[in-house]
Amino acid sequence: MPDPVVAIRLMLSWPTGPRLQDLMRWNAAKRVDPAARHGYIRVMASSAPTASPAAAPSIPDGDAEVLPILIAPNPILKARARAVTPADADTVRALIPRMFTTMYRAPGIGLAAPQVGVRLRLTVVDLMPDDARAPIVLVNPEVIAASTELATREEGCLSLPNQYADVTRPARVKVRYYDQTGARREIEADGLLAVCLQHEIDHLDGVLFVDHISALKRNMLMRKLAKEMRLKDA
Ligand code: NI
Repeated sequence: MPDPVVAIRLMLSWPTGPRLQDLMRWNAAKRVDPAARHGYIRVMASSAPTASPAAAPSIPDGDAEVLPILIAPNPILKARARAVTPADADTVRALIPRMFTTMYRAPGIGLAAPQVGVRLRLTVVDLMPDDARAPIVLVNPEVIAASTELATREEGCLSLPNQYADVTRPARVKVRYYDQTGARREIEADGLLAVCLQHEIDHLDGVLFVDHISALKRNMLMRKLAKEMRLKDA
């Protein structure tokens, strides 16, 4: 983990793009390793929202229907999801609050649509900085830049309950996406948010965090998961 002050200086020295909209520090999401406490994120809007806030669907009141989360192995978790189109607007509008409620109840810090059986490129994220909700909706997200510097962090997944492994990924990424109002946005992230965004976007491509570890470790972990699921069902 880089020193946070140095890391912030590094981020701020990146070429200036869109207006800095929000600079937030966060302590740690629950159930995340202590190293995660020293991250930060910078969220930028690449354009003004194209719809007024009133037009936006209400994001999470935390009271929507809880959806069942698919558990690995499941073919939907291994499939590539298709891009959201304007024709999916109603589906997406109905799905967003349910995905947030499902994620908050789990609890988790990210949930991708394929995990609730919907093969669309949609994911929701909330790192709960300072225990306050900070929901992010990402429609058709894509990683448009990644640092050559790598970082290793322990990951878990709601589709692989109670299974954790160290995963190495680019330390910083820039992600472009549409938010729930249809506005095009970009996030530059490092620390836990960078991990979370890459993990969730992986889900849209049918990739699980265990696909980033050795076959030996992956098989061990999948066997352990299968056994735990059998015990749970018994
Ligand atoms: Ni996951």
